[in-house]
Formats: sequence, C-alpha cells, structure tokens
Amino acid sequence: MLGIEKSHEVMYVFFCVLAFTGKKTVTSLPTKRVFAITYGCQMNVYDTRRILQVLARLGYEETNDPTKCDLFLINTCSVREKPEAKVFSTLARYKPLKSLNPDMVFAVCGCVAQQHGRALLEKVPWVDLVFGPDMIKDLPYLLEEIEKGKRLSLTKRMPRASYEFVEVDPKFEKGPTAFLTIMKGCDKVCTFCIVPYVRGREVSKPFAKVMDEVRSLVEGGVKEITLLGQNVNSYGKGLEGNPDFVGLLEALNDTKGLERLRFVTSHPRDADERMMACFKNLRTVCEYLHLPVQSGSDRILKLMKRGYTSKEFIEKVEMARHYCPDIAISTDIIVGFPGETLKDFEDTLKLLEKVQFDTIYSFKYSPRPHTPASRMPDDCPPEEKQRRLMELQSLQNEITRKRMQRFLGRVEEVLVEGPSERNPFQLCGRTRTNFVVNFDPVDGVEAGSLVHVRITEVLTNSLRGEIVRPGGGLASTFQPEATDGH
Ligand code: SAH
Ligand code: F3S
Repeated sequence: MLGIEKSHEVMYVFFCVLAFTGKKTVTSLPTKRVFAITYGCQMNVYDTRRILQVLARLGYEETNDPTKCDLFLINTCSVREKPEAKVFSTLARYKPLKSLNPDMVFAVCGCVAQQHGRALLEKVPWVDLVFGPDMIKDLPYLLEEIEKGKRLSLTKRMPRASYEFVEVDPKFEKGPTAFLTIMKGCDKVCTFCIVPYVRGREVSKPFAKVMDEVRSLVEGGVKEITLLGQNVNSYGKGLEGNPDFVGLLEALNDTKGLERLRFVTSHPRDADERMMACFKNLRTVCEYLHLPVQSGSDRILKLMKRGYTSKEFIEKVEMARHYCPDIAISTDIIVGFPGETLKDFEDTLKLLEKVQFDTIYSFKYSPRPHTPASRMPDDCPPEEKQRRLMELQSLQNEITRKRMQRFLGRVEEVLVEGPSERNPFQLCGRTRTNFVVNFDPVDGVEAGSLVHVRITEVLTNSLRGEIVRPGGGLASTFQPEATDGH
C-alpha cells in the first residue's frame, strides 16, 4: 500500500512540476477522473476537499462531467430523512453511467455510508465502495482492492486516542475563504440527533496542527477561515496541555495575513462569556454567531436534552449583544418534535419575536435511527409540521427583512469572493456579519480584496451596494488597507 502511494506521490510531483513549467506534454500522461457530489453541512464540503486531495496523490483530477469519470463519489448526509432519501435517488439517477462505462467505480462516503455500511452494498448493487468519515486516509488501499474486482464496505471508527485528521493542502481550496475542521464527532446527547452515532465521539485536532494549517491556508491566499465542529466550545477536550476554544481563537488572531475568523457551531449551553468577549476583543473574529436553539418551549427543550431553558438561551444572546451590539445571530429550529403542542410551538414563535434573529434555518422533525426521540411517538401529522414550518418562516422573513434594514446607507467591510452567481457582471462578497453583498466591479478589485461598500438596497436575502473611497465618494481603484472591522 505504502509503495503504491509513494509511486503515485512521485508521479504527482512530476505532474505538478510539468504543470508549473507549463509544458503541454502533461495532458498525454494517464489521468483518472473523479466526479464528486456533496450533500449536507460545511463539514462534508470540507471532507470532500480532503478526499479530492487524497485522490490527487493517486493521479485523480476532478471533473464536472459525470459521463467522463472513472470514480463517481457521493459524500452524504443523514441528519434528516430528506437528505438521506436524496442519496438513493441520486444513485438511481446515475446508475446508467455504469452501463456506459462498466469500469467506473461508484463510491458512497459520509454519514449515510457510516449508517448503512454493508447493507448499502446489498441495497444498491451498482455501488462498489462504501466508506465512513473516518476512512478517508485509507482510500488508496480501498481503491487498490476495488481495482482487484472487490466490492467493499469499510466503516470502522478510529479510536479517539489514535484518531488522525487528514492534513489540509491549501492547493485544494478555491478562493479567499476556507473551512477548517478543528474537531470531529459530538459528545452531546440531543435526543433527535444522529450525528453522535454516525460521526462518533468528539475528537479535537491538536492545537499546533490547527495553527499550522491556518498558517498554510493563509500563505496559500485564504483570507477568511471558518472553524468547524459540532460544538466548537468544547474544543481541546482530551488534548495535551488542555487548550480551549478561546485560547485557540486568541492564538489564531495573531496570524499574519488572516483577516477573518468565523466558527460553527456553538452550543448554547457551553458558549460562555469569555467566548462572547472575543467578538469585541479579537480583530479577526467576525460579528456573526450561529447559536442553535431548536425550540422556544422549555418542555420540548427538556425532551430534546438540550441542557438549557429558553430564558438561559436568551441570556446568552444578551451576553453576545452586550459585547457586540451589532452582532448578527442565526439559529436552527425544529418544528413538530414528538409531543410538540400548539402551545409549545407558540413558545417558539414568541422566542423568535423576542430574540430577533438575523436568520434561521428551520426543519420539520424527522425520526432518525438509533436516537432516543425515534422511540417517542412522532405524533405531529406531516401537514401540521408543514403548516408550523410555514408560519415560523413567514414570521422570521418579516424579522429578517426588518433586521436587514439597519444596513441601508451604512458602509460595510466586504471580502470579495468573486463574480456574483446571479449576475456575472457584478462582484459578490460578504459583510463581517455574514450577509451577501453584490456590487459593480471596480479596477483592481478582485476575489480576495477587502473593500468598503455602501449599502444602497436591501433585498430579500442579500444586499446591494457600491464600493466607496475612504472619504465616502465612489471609488475607481480604491482598495482599503486591512481594517479591524470594529
Ligand atoms: N451541532 C449542532 C447541530 C448539528 S445538526 C447543534 O449544536 O445544534 C444541524 C441541525 O439539523 C440541528 O441544529 C437541527 O436543527 C437539525 N436536525 C438535527 N436532527 C434533526 C432531526 N432528526 N429532525 C429535524 N431536524 C434535525
Ligand atoms: Fe447533534 Fe446535539 Fe451534537 S444537535 S451534533 S447531538 S450538539
């Protein structure tokens, strides 16, 4: 296994040298192609990049054309029933590719792979390889076995003590923003959640490794990093020297060239005053907090085993706003949890009114295998879940619309991410508070530029504006120095 990996590594270096020197001969060398689909959270987006990184060492390059690939890969999510069902419908849709190219390898990874394991090979006979989130490093060996004609499922869980994260290679990041996983798994026991079962126990990435990876990402041109973990507040548990999350933020804050730090997800029970103070005290920490509440009813929060009451949650929000009055706060809400009455649901609506979140991500409860809630009667009819979801979203749309008005006429620091998706003649970026802003391009401003934009229009989910000079006039070439944003 090592030998093969090594020889591919040598070949990869050879490719890179050729590519760097611009010699056209590189196209004549044998290359395999991988077509990758990612479902689910940012952590899956991050994992797909790491998989592509491991595959590149084996001579694979990414393609956008599924009919031309040698490896068809789906990185999956099983947090709710809907994304899980999507995996099976996608596999069915792409099945004909196998008759086009019988040598094509179909691989499924991520949470659905971990959840179903070998059963997935039986259920979907054209799938060749199933591998869990802990198996990314073993991909060279797994593909070697597949090439011998085997069908394989590997969903072993790496023990906490010997867990190794795949190292980040900045070459595989696109653009000025990047995700960085700082921990995997979750030690909480929210009764609705499958994550602890498919992602395992919490393991933190060593402190020095996070520092090195951030440094190398920044050297590779990344300006904004979002640290990822199911509960970033418990970062450091079990690591040598007992580092903690705030200590990590403080250390990363000094990274030269790093403009912005974000993090998801903070658990309301563990997010403490020291962390809230970072929004005020640390130059790089952006004024945006994702704090999932799930419900406004204390009775439901208890059934969910979230470990806080709605009053305690509101106190955390007030703490964040005390340190950073302008902070944007988003949350997750589940409607129709087992036993949720109309009164419980109304408590959730009241909480939205009280807190005035900037945005919410809202979901209909769906029972997940292994979870304690799946043994409670799923007693809210689907139509009623849908009705509650609609009512919740319409209330929040109104709140979001009002909250966004505060930006009108203000000058915001925006990190340019590239051409706007809707209008390629415009540029697009985000405020420190995580709102999308579209604006006309200006000479010298490109992806990675930090600019100041006056907000001229508030749309449903985004802002529109124009680049300004430091004095306030419209710019032609203005590109401000790095600002601290406070
Ligand atoms: N670590 C995060 C949650 C990760 S899962 C936290 O601290 O809350 C992302 C979101 O999916 C959750 O916040 C929850 O709102 C939603 N979710 C998880 N399980 C669900 C289920 N069984 N049904 C509906 N929504 C669910
Ligand atoms: Fe899930 Fe609760 Fe952890 S929502 S990811 S068990 S914090």
